[in-house]
Amino acid sequence: MLRTHTCGDLRSEDLGKEVCLQGWVRFSRDHGGVAFIDLADRYGITQIVFDPESTEGGIDSIEEVLRTFSRESVIMVNGVVRKRVEGTEDQRNPTGDIEVAVRSAKLLNKSALPPFELGDQKENVLPNEDIRMQYRYLDLRRTEMLHAMQFRSKILHLMRQYLESQKFLEIETPILGRSTPEGARDYIVPSRVHPGSFYALAQSPQLFKQMLMVASMDRYFQVARCFRDEDSRKDRQPEFTQLDLEMSFVDMKDIQDLIEGMIAYAWEGLYGEKLQVPFPHIAYRDAMERFGSDKPDMRYGLEFTKLTDVVKDAPYKIFQTIISEGGIVAGMNLKKDIAGEKIGRNDVDRYIKYAKKCGLGGLTWMRCVDGKLESNIVKYFTPEILEDIKKTMDVEEGDLLFIVAGPWKATYEGAGALRKKLGEDLGLVPKGEFQFFWMDECPMFEVDPVTGKCDAFHHPFVLPQNDLDDDYVGGACFDLCLNGYELGSGSLRIHNADLQRAVFRKLGLDDERIESQFGFFVQALGFGAPPHGGIAIGVDRLCAILLEKDSIRDVIAFPKNKRAVSNLDNSPSKVDDEKLDELQIMSMAIDDIDFDEDFEEL
Ligand code: AMO
Repeated sequence: MLRTHTCGDLRSEDLGKEVCLQGWVRFSRDHGGVAFIDLADRYGITQIVFDPESTEGGIDSIEEVLRTFSRESVIMVNGVVRKRVEGTEDQRNPTGDIEVAVRSAKLLNKSALPPFELGDQKENVLPNEDIRMQYRYLDLRRTEMLHAMQFRSKILHLMRQYLESQKFLEIETPILGRSTPEGARDYIVPSRVHPGSFYALAQSPQLFKQMLMVASMDRYFQVARCFRDEDSRKDRQPEFTQLDLEMSFVDMKDIQDLIEGMIAYAWEGLYGEKLQVPFPHIAYRDAMERFGSDKPDMRYGLEFTKLTDVVKDAPYKIFQTIISEGGIVAGMNLKKDIAGEKIGRNDVDRYIKYAKKCGLGGLTWMRCVDGKLESNIVKYFTPEILEDIKKTMDVEEGDLLFIVAGPWKATYEGAGALRKKLGEDLGLVPKGEFQFFWMDECPMFEVDPVTGKCDAFHHPFVLPQNDLDDDYVGGACFDLCLNGYELGSGSLRIHNADLQRAVFRKLGLDDERIESQFGFFVQALGFGAPPHGGIAIGVDRLCAILLEKDSIRDVIAFPKNKRAVSNLDNSPSKVDDEKLDELQIMSMAIDDIDFDEDFEEL
């Protein structure tokens, strides 16, 4: 070993020991003829001291020491562990009682001047994210990023450990394959051997894990890289990681029990505490109608109440038209003490604007003043209807009502986005509180209100709960949600080839397309596919939410930026014409991508 200890190891028990440390110069200072350096590595920070009395051969000049062992250079020191001068101990640092008096030191590799400070000092300001990503290998040296990487590694390890204890096999499935319909665009990879033919990078291992069940593997899992060409968001990356699993001979509860067991096991390993299981359930319709989201953050209130029946006879044209077209009216009561008082007339106008940005036609408001509902539109409501609104929404003096109206899904979705904004603005989102729950009782299909096209609610492999010709078809699918995010989604699958074909047909695929796109898969189901089901959990999201990071980029070692660009290696990039020729792809003269162009992330 080139070192005797890491920079996080030494304690008071080691006083007097001769040690050899290697690490990076994080911070250095001149204290009147003595040079102090914070020597850092993954494990911690140890103070080392160049002291004319203990350093071999003395020290010619402190400036020279600091110049030689410059910031972020990697160095080796031999020295003796000694107690820090009384009063200079650092309680926040586990090595803070001791320091190493340097006997000899060697520069192992000089660092160029780092473009930003990597220490945790308060005055250090991080540069913009693009710079951090351009120098990600430096950014990752920071304590916060090291912690995120360690956390991620640990949670993956714990989940693996649990799954192995439950007889799961870890099996890798292809990344180069045929596209699977997860709903996003594919990344396409040209085949040199078969010009004009392409692989698609796996959007998820969906079909392969199902075929592993046909292959009698019984219980499979994989930490799977998935690739989807969709716009980046704070919770979305073009390539991301799923903990993907599939089980045979199970019902939905078996899959949910397994996940609860796995997360509770990881929780105990991470925090040393028991996690409350089983997780609560909420039906899809309830989640939408109460919180305006299929992944609601239920840690705070601001619930919606249905008002369609209450206002249906009000001579208010806008509501009448919407209701006659099958739309809904719903309201949220911002109670006086929580919000009513904090939201003035100007704020209401701001929220009306925001509501429009969320796709809502508008936002109606009313406030309870002197026992009566007041607003610019109350004249369109009879006193009886206003009284009924008060009763239905439990209105008290000073409360403010926000009312939305429009088609069911779009309106609730818009209302949910407004609720989220209100929750944040009013400081209702708690810190350090984690609420897992299952969102279930989902439909099998969704009909696009504009095109009338029937789409799968999850994906086409979900087991329908009733006859496909029924007016409403339920799907045996569910999501795992945490703090307003969809963490994972799972389902029981179709294991009968004829039923799978029927679902494809219902989704508008003719027999020819079923055969060409999914023939191999339907054929596999025909060879004794067992009843099976599974789930995939987003690992990046899980880590980001538990670490309370704003973006999943903060838990990924080398993420792409908001524009799906890697600032580090500048991919995507042009490739040589020769390479394109080999693939028989025509090159195009396109200007370089403007990486700096302003880009608004949703
Ligand atoms: P789904 O598409 O819902 O299901 O994905 C499962 C989980 O993966 C995570 N996720 C993402 N994370 C980061 N960036 C992305 N672009 C991204 N897309 C998805 C989310 C999501 O909940 N094959 C099915 C699973 C199954 O049925 O077993 C599937 O992939 O956390």
